[in-house]
Amino acid sequence: MPAPNIDTIVSLAKRRGFVFPSSEVYGGLGSAWDYGPLGVELCNNVKQSWWRWLVYERDDIEGIDSSIILNRLVWQYSGHEATFHDPLVDCRECKSRMRADKLEGYFPEDDHKAGFDANARLRAGLVKCAECGSTNLTDERHFNMMFRTTLGAAADENDPAALAYLRPETAQGIFINFLNVQTTMRRKIPFGIAQVGKSFRNEITPGNFILRTREFEQMEMEYFVKPDAEHLKLVDEWVELYLEWFKGLGIDAANLQLHEVPKEELAHYSKRTVDIMYRYFPERPEEERQWEELMGIAYRTDFDLRSHSSKPVDAEGNRVNPDSTEDLSYFDEPTKQRFYPHVIEPAAGVNRTVLAVLMDAYSERTNDKGETRVILKLSPQLAPIKAAILPLAKNKPEIVGMAKAIKRSLQPVLRAVYDDTGGIGKLYARQDEIGTPMCVTVDHQSLEDEAVTVRDRDTWEQERVKVSDLAEHLQKRLKPYPNPELV
Ligand code: GAP
Repeated sequence: MPAPNIDTIVSLAKRRGFVFPSSEVYGGLGSAWDYGPLGVELCNNVKQSWWRWLVYERDDIEGIDSSIILNRLVWQYSGHEATFHDPLVDCRECKSRMRADKLEGYFPEDDHKAGFDANARLRAGLVKCAECGSTNLTDERHFNMMFRTTLGAAADENDPAALAYLRPETAQGIFINFLNVQTTMRRKIPFGIAQVGKSFRNEITPGNFILRTREFEQMEMEYFVKPDAEHLKLVDEWVELYLEWFKGLGIDAANLQLHEVPKEELAHYSKRTVDIMYRYFPERPEEERQWEELMGIAYRTDFDLRSHSSKPVDAEGNRVNPDSTEDLSYFDEPTKQRFYPHVIEPAAGVNRTVLAVLMDAYSERTNDKGETRVILKLSPQLAPIKAAILPLAKNKPEIVGMAKAIKRSLQPVLRAVYDDTGGIGKLYARQDEIGTPMCVTVDHQSLEDEAVTVRDRDTWEQERVKVSDLAEHLQKRLKPYPNPELV
């Protein structure tokens, strides 16, 4: 049973230290969130799973970590300065400001969406305000979503020479480093470059908790292939691989679905994009409104490498990019051909993955006293805390000492905590709610037989384990993806 809605997760996340509203002491900052002690562990575990899966366990992917602020020219030649914008409208009745292309009636219903006149539709009253339902909306105008900043202490805010952007995607840092990585790591295509890091977009309508925020984290990989590769098939292959990875994180296949992005909605660089959608809104009665993008897999052609290269010329023989000092082409030794590799790009969000994982792991169970307990059935590899060491009697120094010693001995191999702040029932309930897969209880008998009780989060079953076997016993349950024993 996944969470019935995002609000259930918002309240659990705040109550238990996963995610807090940001800047709360000053009344908050709309749609900004801070990750607490458990949230940061969960995010790190998602990122580590992804990195291990792609960079360590495959032989054809390297990792990098590029700057967040890049030369402004990167965003000029990537096309983001000219095209990375959303259509914005205001409602004259309720004064709301909204993204026009998310409103009912914005797109014509027939299949001829390309080239339609949005403002004609707005003026004809065909588009409805999402807040009050009015059709009294302004014309749309384009709003560039890149955050602007100025570089240098003396810079005038309006000095174009000092203008820079916070990156809206991590991908461009990969493209401009393509040759650096390929030559230093002596790579032959096909190969990929992976990067995880923060991106920033001045979203018009952020919201739904960590689903859409202005600051977020991406896990992107650019996979470079020959121009004549079977690109569309490669997109499908990466879709399949990612579906398996998400399932490996514990997400139920029934809550994942594919969406082939229609041609007229493709980003400026894409020839084909398939989105993997997650059921973030199970409470909505209409099935088609339950889904939102979890990640996208795009075929970006050679658009980016070519755009950042010094050599390509237009029909008149003029350099398309007179500012670049490099040619990001690739020489293929076996065929003696030089070309710009084509790119398949799986681009996933850390925060959306975390939200999907939390929603899918949420479950409730009634104990024998008739009380409802929340159990977060996180895949053990993602659980912020792997084992909680609990003394049955906190007033018994020998038991407390033994429990603390066990915690210390486990700490080098897995994340363990010691907790004696309540009765055992309460302690179990707290660990269930934060997804700790195993609780280890030290009792009076432990002092005699050097054994402890290990309680399973999902079944509540208990077994007796020798302290000398404990680390190995617990570790068996924590094997990472793609190990089949993982979930
Ligand atoms: N380089 C391609 C690219 O950035 P995208 O579909 O715009 O593609 C990829 O973004 C992923 O990044 C999305 O599928 C989503 O998971 C995440 N993402 C994008 N915008 C986001 C936002 N405002 N808040 C949270 N996550 C976001």
